Amino acid sequence: MTDPLRLGIAGLGTVGAGVVKIIRQKSVLLAERTGRPITISAVCARNRDRDRGVPLGDYAWEDDAVALAKRDDVDVFVELMGGSDGPAKAATEAALAMGKDVVTANKALLAHHGTALALQAEAAGSVLRFEAAVAGGIPVIKALTEGLAGNEITRVMGVMNGSCNYILTRMENAGLTYQEAFAEADGLGYLEADPELDVGGIDAGHKLSLLASIAFGTQVAFSAVELEGIGKVSIDDIRQAADMGYKIKLLGVCRMTGRGLEQRMSPCLVPQTSPLGQLDGGTNMVMIEGDQVGQIVMRGAGAGEGPTASAVLGDLMDIARGTRLSTFGQPASSLKSVTAARVATPAPYYVRMALVDKPGALAKVATALGEAGISINRMRQYDHTNEAAPVLIVTHKTTRAALDQAIEAMAPTGVVAADPVVLRIEAV
Ligand code: NDP
Ligand code: HSE
Repeated sequence: MTDPLRLGIAGLGTVGAGVVKIIRQKSVLLAERTGRPITISAVCARNRDRDRGVPLGDYAWEDDAVALAKRDDVDVFVELMGGSDGPAKAATEAALAMGKDVVTANKALLAHHGTALALQAEAAGSVLRFEAAVAGGIPVIKALTEGLAGNEITRVMGVMNGSCNYILTRMENAGLTYQEAFAEADGLGYLEADPELDVGGIDAGHKLSLLASIAFGTQVAFSAVELEGIGKVSIDDIRQAADMGYKIKLLGVCRMTGRGLEQRMSPCLVPQTSPLGQLDGGTNMVMIEGDQVGQIVMRGAGAGEGPTASAVLGDLMDIARGTRLSTFGQPASSLKSVTAARVATPAPYYVRMALVDKPGALAKVATALGEAGISINRMRQYDHTNEAAPVLIVTHKTTRAALDQAIEAMAPTGVVAADPVVLRIEAV
């Protein structure tokens, strides 16, 4: 056996404690597979006295993550604290500055500083890996950077936030309102400490920006992700989308277009019968389309101790084996700067409206759509609940800008009783 790979683990919460457990319980298997032992030299967290469900007495303790990252007996700094800045960034930079390798699960850190950190790693001859940061246990980074490296990637999309998928599934299957499903997810501990990261689409947007960088060889551009959360999705939308054969998912889509890089994370309709349409509960799904391979679908746990620690171990074992891949699948210095596509690729849209119930109302709506160049594919009017008549329209392919123009033109006619709900229908 050659020298051990010695780790310093910062963060002993859900993921960190999970990594320590695997390294303790499966040391023989890991050494057999990599050809060298993987050991822990030191650990770090905020509260030294907290029971982590795993013995820590064999490891040195550091109160400060930067001090841990700089230790002479640490070859790989494992960052499992979280946060886009603060100690996670400082300690990662400190480790890279000393030529150490870094493995992290921190999507927020990489979404904000990924390109700079990858450049720093490259300059130092270090490796910076982040499999656990996107879709938890699904090895999607490996798939993109390794197995599919010979493809030109045409589109990457998926459901990358389990909490949002849980909320939408409960609204659909149990008839809960958004507020009830949110409260249930919160009670089960599914939501981030700041739930807006989940329901605002920010966490999933972080993940999408990392996948886009690998898929299209671009610098990480989280600020260019078009973000919309699930807070405005109502039980009426879930029911009426279902009536038209669709499910609503918080869907991330990225593709390179002639107009620039398109990155969207927003509630979309997908066919009920599609793999994405059948994805229930807290599970994640990522679909990758390549010019040679066609479509690949990967499904699995996007969070939780075991699945996330599994992904961290995958990165650590690569390093133990001597596999030294670039952070984003190509030299960081060759990543192109991003021109963001200002207009999303045209798609059909779902438009739910409440119309004033009087003769000619529907005609005025149809006229406004027609004058904006929008063609109606399907339309349904539902039983009147009160004064307003609920109307559902599915358009042929159009743009959001054209729809906004049509909706603006409807306003002075006085036939629209409430703000219309507009959701994109994604071809999956
Ligand atoms: P937790 O909140 O469970 O754990 C965070 C750990 O970091 C705690 O042990 C905490 O210490 C420690 N910590 C926080 N701040 C500091 C600091 N300033 N100095 C030292 N230690 C600190 O988080 P998770 O394990 O859930 O997440 C860790 C990372 O993994 C995050 O980046 C997260 O986004 C990512 N991730 C998590 C997934 C999951 O399923 N949980 C899935 C995919 C990615 P203490 O315990 O003493 O408070
Ligand atoms: N909050 C995230 C989710 C955790 O719900 O998917 C995993 O990144």
